[in-house]
Amino acid sequence: MTQIIINEQNRRPAAPDLYGLFFEDINRAGDSGIYPEMLRNRSFEDSVEPLETTVTEDGAYFITKTGFREDFSHGEGCAAWAARHPYTPIPAWYAENASMELDRVDVLHKNRLAALKVDFEAGGMIRNIGYVGVSAEEGTPLLFYAFVKADRETTLTVGLRSKEGALLASADVTVLPGSYTRVDARLVPTATDPDASFVIISKEACSAAFGFTSLMPEETFMGHGLRKDLVELLGVTKSQFMRYPGGCVVEGLNRDTALRFTDTVGPVWERPGKWNLWHYHTTNGFGFHEYLQLCEDLNMEALYVINCGMSCQARNPEFFLDDDMDEMLDQAMWAMEYAMGDISTKYGALRAEMGHPEPFCIKYIEIGNENDGPEYYSRYKVFYDALQKAYPDVILISNAHTEVQGLPTPYVDEHYYCDWQYFAQSGHLYDHYPKDGPKIFIGEYAVTRGHDVGTLRSALAETNFLLGAERNPEVVKLTAYAPLFENIHYRAWNPNLIFFDNHRSAALPFLYALGMLGGNRGRDILDVTVTTDKLAPEKFGFVGMIAYGHGLRMKKPVVNGKERSVEKEILGYFLEDGDGYFADASRNDSKRLDSVTRYPFQMDYVNGIFSDKKATETVYSVKVFIDENTPKFALTLWVHNTTEPEVRSLRPDGTDPGAKDFWLINETEYYTWTIDHNTERAYYLYRYQEQPMNEAAPISLRMGEYNEFTVKTDALGYDCYVNGEFVRRVEDRKYGRVETVVTEDEEYLYVKLLNNSETEEPVTLKTGIACEREYSYELLTGAPADRNSLEDPCKVNTKVATGTFPEDAMTYTCPAWSFSVLKLRKK
Ligand code: AHR
Repeated sequence: MTQIIINEQNRRPAAPDLYGLFFEDINRAGDSGIYPEMLRNRSFEDSVEPLETTVTEDGAYFITKTGFREDFSHGEGCAAWAARHPYTPIPAWYAENASMELDRVDVLHKNRLAALKVDFEAGGMIRNIGYVGVSAEEGTPLLFYAFVKADRETTLTVGLRSKEGALLASADVTVLPGSYTRVDARLVPTATDPDASFVIISKEACSAAFGFTSLMPEETFMGHGLRKDLVELLGVTKSQFMRYPGGCVVEGLNRDTALRFTDTVGPVWERPGKWNLWHYHTTNGFGFHEYLQLCEDLNMEALYVINCGMSCQARNPEFFLDDDMDEMLDQAMWAMEYAMGDISTKYGALRAEMGHPEPFCIKYIEIGNENDGPEYYSRYKVFYDALQKAYPDVILISNAHTEVQGLPTPYVDEHYYCDWQYFAQSGHLYDHYPKDGPKIFIGEYAVTRGHDVGTLRSALAETNFLLGAERNPEVVKLTAYAPLFENIHYRAWNPNLIFFDNHRSAALPFLYALGMLGGNRGRDILDVTVTTDKLAPEKFGFVGMIAYGHGLRMKKPVVNGKERSVEKEILGYFLEDGDGYFADASRNDSKRLDSVTRYPFQMDYVNGIFSDKKATETVYSVKVFIDENTPKFALTLWVHNTTEPEVRSLRPDGTDPGAKDFWLINETEYYTWTIDHNTERAYYLYRYQEQPMNEAAPISLRMGEYNEFTVKTDALGYDCYVNGEFVRRVEDRKYGRVETVVTEDEEYLYVKLLNNSETEEPVTLKTGIACEREYSYELLTGAPADRNSLEDPCKVNTKVATGTFPEDAMTYTCPAWSFSVLKLRKK
């Protein structure tokens, strides 16, 4: 039984933009997805490698100047994607009774890298197979256009053809000699076939050159060119903002592929296409204008992410200097001018030309994506100062806790990719964040590891995490699940909120939870007291030690009565030294250099673990030599890393990447008992956030000799001893598997109730706010392993219903594994 007392005396304003979306062109989310282009390689540039890269002899990879190897497969991208189709040197295009070659010189526009030259025999044909089939639906019109020229005036037939060779739709276009000219056709299929091809046929022998082609549905969302079913699914989330355009694509693989605003505006046939770091070429059909228009259409704020002068730090980065750095700053300023500038400005005028003379609004700018370390800090400062000066009202977001570096940091973007257990246990993470620190944007989060990825169980765990964000409006201002879209034939990441093929779409159960969260906001948060006997699972993990400096000497780590050695070093080295260990924090040749490159930080401490079994209950002791030179050190407890073998995720092709031999420190969670010379204190640590569990207190140690430190952990906390003497007990709050957030506006109380357990749970609400007995509610429930699919898209979906409280109590029974939102009308 759970009781929730709603304290109507204590109201705090809710964070108005809390629930948002994050669009990144990953898994072919842009061209082929929200931007419903049906012709793959419509610009014929897919097989052109990026600048400053070298293609391997077999065409399988290209390699950047800094040595990063990327799947290329002659332009098809991942090898698994390429293996699906017969080889063609011009991806997606095939010729019958015709020959094709790329022309790299006589192109449509200076931004185009190639055109397609075709010599047709009489009756010859070229064919595009789309993104695993071009979908024809009986009676549903498609619009085709191309920029084309021929050696003489001629007629070409464009159409859709089934595998069996039947023409399902066709139209004739007249092609002229001279320069590239636009031709248009409307195709209305007479039959349905999701696996058709698009064809261009010439009755007579001729030579033609195609500068750019396109085939799109006539009907799009609000006539603004986006795929209707996908935007309608976005609408279900009732989101308050959208982050765009990435993600790692913002950073790119090198200077050439780093994303620039100017790649994404203007007529699509003039936009420079670029190799996208998620393994394919894109023409950026869903560009900056389309993004701002979508924000306007769905009533979302815009949160724009800019490249801040570096390529992806996880992929052998390049750090831009001088002119390259200036160019990136210009790009940021031009984007702002495009969005908000007067039509007398260069980019304001372009916006008007694209059909939107009124300014759009950009509320947030994020400086970089997942960047960190000294190279980031200096660039962040340059961008921060320039943007702040030019746009003082725009809220600037840092990728890292740059406030620690003394930099101005209004918002910090934190990313969480973990197992469902992490989200199920972390509903109160932000309760401990300082209220006067930077505001938090949870810019990317998802259950990506372990079992039950993409299921209802994950959705409920993620909901728990978001309730924790909503409960802390002074700290967490924005959240966005990642990634948003997946064309199921081009998976580069798993899972993705919405998945689709060329004619169907579906969403993870979590999308419906987001709709319930986003659609029932309320203006103020009310404080609540929850009493429940449904408690979250216990903490568990390894034990270990941190030396916050060079030279700590320790010996005899004993775990559950057995002497142990160092099982794993997370940072630095514990070197064997006589009958013990010496902490070597001086060396930078760590075998975990990868993690250091990615998240550079001072290598001035050593962190290791001693046990080989995770446990809730452990008795652990270690002897540490204490004198005035002993650095601060900590016994670490319940150490747990989300990249361990049992929780790591599979690769997109289903293979297991194998265990990492290093642990990223920011993915390692633990508690400590920390001794800092003559004081002791306990902390909880995760993602560089250090949360004290109690006040520091003096500790009495024997100088010039080994002291024995012992910790006994149990299901509720841990007891700490020195030299056999009890020092303190540390307890963390145990969190419920029933969680809630209550908000209100003038008319309603919104009671969000999560039951993350296997049995139903009656919940009684107590409040001084008078409400009617009749209420409406939304409910998401099912079996924990339930998931949606293209075949059964609504298996896990929100049910809307009404209920009536009994006369004597406001009691509602939460079904097992459920999320409910009750809307109570105030009297
Ligand atoms: O969401 C997928 C990727 O995860 C994003 O591109 C990147 O920011 C993160 O590493």
